[in-house]
Amino acid sequence: RIVYVNGNYVPESEATVSVFDRGFLFADAVYEVTAVVGGKLIDFDGHVTRLKRSVAELSMPAEVDEAKLRGIHEELVSRNDIDEGLVYLQLTRGAADRDFLYPDTSTTPTLVLFTQKKAVVENPAAERGMAVVSLPDLRWDRRDIKTVQLLYPSMAKMEAKAQGADDAWLVEDGMVTEATSANAYIVTGDGTIVTRGLSNAILHGITRRAVLALAEEAGLKVEERGFTIDEAKAAREAFVTSASAFVMPVVSIDGAKIGDGSVGPLARRLRGIYLEALA
Ligand code: PDD
Repeated sequence: RIVYVNGNYVPESEATVSVFDRGFLFADAVYEVTAVVGGKLIDFDGHVTRLKRSVAELSMPAEVDEAKLRGIHEELVSRNDIDEGLVYLQLTRGAADRDFLYPDTSTTPTLVLFTQKKAVVENPAAERGMAVVSLPDLRWDRRDIKTVQLLYPSMAKMEAKAQGADDAWLVEDGMVTEATSANAYIVTGDGTIVTRGLSNAILHGITRRAVLALAEEAGLKVEERGFTIDEAKAAREAFVTSASAFVMPVVSIDGAKIGDGSVGPLARRLRGIYLEALA
């Protein structure tokens, strides 16, 4: 694979980043994951807008140039022959002597991008549906900033796997926040799509925004509010959204079947509508 590091396209075996990089030492870094379908970037503007916001929230002295970043994404997609998959971008505050204080603004940010081939459209998990378990949300309180502090989500996913499930839904103050790396939704008895409202408690998903807009266009009812695991277990359907999973049905929570335990019609329809809109 060819990867991008600070202005250079190099084979992955030749790519290097300093051991003093603050992304490595302090998780002082932000990232984005953009899906690629048919060689095309999905919702790229949304990802760049969110990246700009993450950079601003952390006062990173990095310039986020949409046209330049698009060019790098497209170059990597082409060089690595990505028809379907993902582009990962990570931007750190750069390398500096280890100090909790940010270095002065002359430090050069580190920009790294790489690609991953992945069948995102024909994903067998979308036919099967996912099993999730609930776990406490022990992440920090600024989940709206897309930082690389992913250790807790990683631990939670390991725990979910140990319990025989595919992922975890995280719970704080009795309410579901989101999944380890996706936004969480339920469908109530009257067909309303319910997902947590935007705040610092969740990542403002780019796929979430697109799916909610498409749902409203299709005349579906959407309510942005918190919900409990008990409400989710009693829901008609459940699903998650993310750039890598699109709309992914959830068929059980903590071992309890959602609906009849198979992929729900609304989740299937939304996935279809979303995929159609990409074409
Ligand atoms: N994760 N919530 C969390 C905690 C996430 O990490 C993600 C994305 C989402 C969905 O956001 P979007 O629709 O913009 O992808 C919600 C990416 C895909 C990842 O970490 O791989």
